[in-house]
Amino acid sequence: MNIAKHIAIIMDGNGRWAEARGEKRVKGHEVGADVVRDITTYCSNHPQIERLTLYAFSTENWKRPRLEVEFLMKLLDRYLKNELPKYLENNVRFEPIGDLSAFSASLQKTIQHVVDKTAHCNGLVQSLALNYGAQDELVRAINKIKRTSETITPETLSNALDCKQDVDLLIRTGGDKRLSNFLLWQAAYAELCFVDTLWPDFTPNELEGIIANFSKIERRFGGLK
Ligand code: IPE
Ligand code: IPE
Ligand code: MG
Repeated sequence: MNIAKHIAIIMDGNGRWAEARGEKRVKGHEVGADVVRDITTYCSNHPQIERLTLYAFSTENWKRPRLEVEFLMKLLDRYLKNELPKYLENNVRFEPIGDLSAFSASLQKTIQHVVDKTAHCNGLVQSLALNYGAQDELVRAINKIKRTSETITPETLSNALDCKQDVDLLIRTGGDKRLSNFLLWQAAYAELCFVDTLWPDFTPNELEGIIANFSKIERRFGGLK
């Protein structure tokens, strides 16, 4: 039986969820943040899941209207401040990935605060991908190695990435079937699951069903059965 140690999710469909209700797109992000909490809590209670990586803001998302970007930054700040007790209660360690240097000093401070306060937690790792793009991550990793005397091998490259654990199960909500620059290296052998459910409607129950299906898949990694 396969165990999904590392689950990664492209949380897509917030805007469409809101628009379908005659609401502004940002309403979808707000409800989406509640789903982040529910899914994280579910995974933290699942002893076999080690890491949950959630795509929250891509390197390409800066192209969105200024007001939407500003809303997302404020929402992230608020979410992290409000959720700190929940991280601690559920023994969840917060480990962001992405180029955080692009964020405001005060948002970087909030992010670092939650990283520091949860550093001792040894349950689930919740990794939010923030200003994350897999191409940017690979370029930063290669430049990091170039500054040392190390040669580039799959191992040195993997260790220089923000996210060092291969993905077992990659889920995208919202109906589109693409990776949108998410974890291109780490998902080399991930099982891919695309669901039509929009992120604000995604539930722990649906995740449970996806994990159950995943557990029955035969993973060969290029070998034979
Ligand atoms: C995903 O939902 C959240 C972010 C990218 C921040 P979208 O905002 O992309 O929602 P849709 O895809 O437009 O419905
Ligand atoms: C992917 O969703 C990024 C996040 C979920 C943060 P997008 O909505 O930005 O992706 P595209 O533009 O449809 O590929
Ligand atoms: Mg989208």
